[in-house]
Amino acid sequence: MKPKKALIAGATGLVGNELLHILLEAQEYATVTAIVRRPLSIQHPKLNEVIIDFDHLEEYSEHMAVDDVFCCLGTTIKKAKTKAAMKKIDADYPLALAKLTQKLGATHFLLISSMNANPHSKIWYSQMKGKLEEELETVPFETISILHPSLLLGQRNEFRLGEKIGASIFQALSFLFTGPLLKLKAIEGRQVAKSMYSIAQINKQGVMIYPSDYLQNRITT
Ligand SMILES: NC(=O)c1ccc[n+]([C@@H]2O[C@H](COP(=O)([O-])OP(=O)(O)OC[C@H]3O[C@@H](n4cnc5c(N)ncnc54)[C@H](OP(=O)(O)O)[C@@H]3O)[C@@H](O)[C@H]2O)c1
Repeated sequence: MKPKKALIAGATGLVGNELLHILLEAQEYATVTAIVRRPLSIQHPKLNEVIIDFDHLEEYSEHMAVDDVFCCLGTTIKKAKTKAAMKKIDADYPLALAKLTQKLGATHFLLISSMNANPHSKIWYSQMKGKLEEELETVPFETISILHPSLLLGQRNEFRLGEKIGASIFQALSFLFTGPLLKLKAIEGRQVAKSMYSIAQINKQGVMIYPSDYLQNRITT
């Protein structure tokens, strides 16, 4: 098979950074373009690092003609400060990236969304993620893969109190999360990244939603 070109957004984040290293070592990809707003501080012969202003994506179109697009962007309300600012990063940037890369020839768009994404949810965060999914599904990619991880575990450079408490509870009670409850169990960012890479190699067309238990169990190499 002809080696593919990958593009990753969010490569400095918990999942994105794990994924970046997987993609750089993967034989399926000849090049990996990382669009970032600050330097990655790594070098690799396959890496094309492009520092961009996400408000003006189209100005970087020359770097965006790829096959598979991996979107790991996101923030927290604490960092973003307002819902509007958070929506811009979590929803508007991913949608703009999808529309642009599809126009430039990408065939597969992979998005990290969230377990409870639902456009009709009364919870603002879940509704925002659900509405993004609805809009993304109208972009005519051959394949759209939407990942629904539960609480993410992993080393962060910042302190997130809510997630720390959640992670401790999940870890203490992890024996409870089996069978149908597995999709609620907290998941390592690295496992999500491995599954995302592996899902990109599945040859299916249409919109696919991958719940967290699938991501936990996906056999990855
Ligand atoms: N946390 C959880 O438990 C959880 C659970 C389920 C789903 N999710 C979702 O999973 C996705 C990935 O989560 P994560 O924890 O891996 O994310 P993360 O560690 O917070 O990383 C987010 C990425 O988005 C980038 N980003 C943030 N603000 C930006 C901006 N204004 N312009 C450009 N890039 C920006 C960050 O770049 P910088 O490094 O430059 O800031 C970083 O690369 C997110 O959509 C999140 O909502 C999270």
